[in-house]
Parts: sequence; C-alpha cells; structure tokens
Amino acid sequence: MSYKVIQWTTGHVSKEAVKGILAHPDLEMVGAYAWSEAKVGKDVGELCGIDPIGIKATNDVDALLKMGADCVCYMPNWPNVDEMVRILEAGLNMVCSLFITGTSLGEEQRSRLVKAAQQGNASLFGSGIFPGFAPFIAGLMATASRDFRRIRFLESVDLSHYAAFANFAALGWGQPPDEKWAEVNRIVLGPYGECIDLIADLLHIPITEKRFDYEYATAPDDREFFGFPVPAGTVAGQKCTWTGMVGDNPAVELDVVWKAGKNLEPDWSLFHGYTMEVEGNPNIRTRVTFSPSELKTDDLVAGGADLANQVTAMPVISAIPAVCDAAAGIRTYADLPLITGRYVHQPG
Ligand SMILES: NC(=O)c1ccc[n+]([C@@H]2O[C@H](COP(=O)([O-])OP(=O)(O)OC[C@H]3O[C@@H](n4cnc5c(N)ncnc54)[C@H](OP(=O)(O)O)[C@@H]3O)[C@@H](O)[C@H]2O)c1
Repeated sequence: MSYKVIQWTTGHVSKEAVKGILAHPDLEMVGAYAWSEAKVGKDVGELCGIDPIGIKATNDVDALLKMGADCVCYMPNWPNVDEMVRILEAGLNMVCSLFITGTSLGEEQRSRLVKAAQQGNASLFGSGIFPGFAPFIAGLMATASRDFRRIRFLESVDLSHYAAFANFAALGWGQPPDEKWAEVNRIVLGPYGECIDLIADLLHIPITEKRFDYEYATAPDDREFFGFPVPAGTVAGQKCTWTGMVGDNPAVELDVVWKAGKNLEPDWSLFHGYTMEVEGNPNIRTRVTFSPSELKTDDLVAGGADLANQVTAMPVISAIPAVCDAAAGIRTYADLPLITGRYVHQPG
C-alpha cells in the first residue's frame, strides 16, 4: 500500500523529509506547499537541493487539500493552529516535527485540533529527534528494568554547525541575559515539556507536578554563526530542565544543553548527542550519537550533511503509514503500534 504525502514547506527539516519520503517504498510524494512567495512554482527537488522530481511547490491550499492525499508532512517554523485545523478537517492525516501531545498549545487550541481531527476522521502525530525519538527510545529501554524509579535524558549539543541557528534568536541568543528568557523558553520549547506527558503515558507514571528550570551561558568574545551575530556577553548557550515529579521523586528528568562553540561562561561539558538512563533494577544507559552516511549509491542520501535535520525528519516520516492507519485524533508513541525504520535495499 502506498500513502500519498504532501510536504508542507521546504525549510531545513523539510528538505530532509522530502528525501525521506522519496526514499520510502510505501510513500508517494504528490504535492508541496510553499510559504515563501519565491518558492511558489519551483520544483520541490530543486528546492531541496536534489534533482527535479516533477512536483511544483504551490501556495494554493484548496488545491492541495483536494488532491486526494493521505497525509500532510507539516514542518513550518511554528505551528499555525488555524492551518492545522483546516488540513485535519479536510480529512488529511498530519505528521509534524513541532508537536508531541499539543498540551503546551493550551487546552483551547488543543481541543480545536482534536475536534478537527474527529470531524475529518484524521490523525495527528508529532516526533523528531527530541522532542520525539529520544523519549520513545527511553520508553523502550525501561522494558528491561523491573522496578525503575527514574528516567533521565540529556541532550547535549554544540549548535555551531546547525544551519537553522537563526531560529535561536527567538530564545534570546545573541541578546543580553534577562530573566524574561526563562519564561520565553518555557513557552517556545513547550513540546519538550510535552515529552514528560508522553513518557508518563508510555510508562504509566502518575506525574503529580511538572517543573521547568532555565540557566543561560554567555559568549566570552564576539562570535558569528551562519551570519547570525553573537556578541561578547550575550546569550550563547542554555540549559533547560523539565522534571516530572511523583510526590517528592523526580521520576522523569529532561536536560537540554545547547552551546554555540567552546569556552562559554559557564562552560558546561559537552557530550554530542543523547544520553538516556533508566534508574532501576538493573540501571540501563544508552548513548545515541550520529555520524554521516558512507552510502554513495543513492543520490537521495548524498549531500545530506546536516544530520540534525535528517534525524529530526526521519522519525516523522517513518511514522506516516501507522499514523494514516490510526484512529482519528491526536496520536502519540503511546497509542500507535510499534514504529520502526524501513529497509531499502541498496545493491553493492
Ligand atoms: N522535534 C525535533 O527534534 C526538532 C528538531 C529541529 C526542529 N524542530 C522543529 O521543526 C520545525 C521546522 O524547523 P526548521 O529548522 O526546518 O525551520 P525553518 O527552516 O526555519 O522554517 C521552516 C519553514 O517555515 C516557513 N516559514 C518561515 N517563516 C514563516 C512564517 N513567518 N510564517 C509561516 N511559515 C514560515 C518557511 O516555509 P517555505 O519553505 O515554504 O518558505 C520555512 O522554510 C520547527 O518548528 C522546529 O522547531 C523539531
């Protein structure tokens, strides 16, 4: 069975999503939405840095919604609930990289999505590397522990090589430290907090309270990343911690440490990837790191140097068949069948 997919935008993550859709044996790319005027009418392959694929990006939403697709791969820089409602009401399933449970959108907006999904008999699912894949892995790890009492995650990355660096301006990067950045981060990074709900659902943890903590680090000298200036003394790193308490036990702890280069003040240790720990009987620890593919046999794989975007896009793409087959509503890893990768034979 082949699922027809529309790609919504062709930004950093979306470019890798398009390559993932084209490479997946059960998916067929049928259309693409362009938010930027300049992208309208351009071939989607060219917009994604690969050969033309014969599909032109359009901003004609009505035409896209009527073309008989099964799913929209929704990846703008920020969720637009009105737009999401329109897609779901039109009966298209939706996968995205900016959503886990939707609780951080607030009850009113989340209810609109649930209602739209039910009206359109469609399902909505979000993943990515983290939020997304990392808590899913931790949930699976806990399978092997008899009486675990704590799940811990650490995302520890240097963003100097992250092409979407400018998106961090919204979190205070490149600007003077200020108390307000704590609240800004809590709101903007809401889907990380949603991972506490996801883990609680996956592992039946009766969370009684959720906490959020924020620390910043500053640049000791003037820096620039992808044309984005980070002057000395401004925010160049941050550590956000989400904790899910059960009484006085911090049962789920998520630490997200992002740095722009070395020698920040303070200079937190860097682990380059994801560390997941289950504290129980036995303790279980996994480190997930990524390195570029050696495969040269497939043009769709070549050129994908931005690993952060690949590993964000692929958990979303891999879920499309399960999401299309799922019951209407907001779906998570906790209520979908086990999602795995899809083998694609590459001769030689
Ligand atoms: N879960 C995870 O692990 C994870 C990791 C990284 C990123 N993300 C999330 O994934 C999403 C995509 O990230 P990205 O780095 O690919 O974003 P991006 O490249 O900065 O932006 C994606 C697209 O959004 C559209 N866009 C830009 N400005 C807009 C505006 N003002 N209003 C509406 N649309 C606008 C553009 O579409 P066109 O291409 O059509 O012009 C752009 O290409 C973000 O929400 C990000 O937070 C999740």
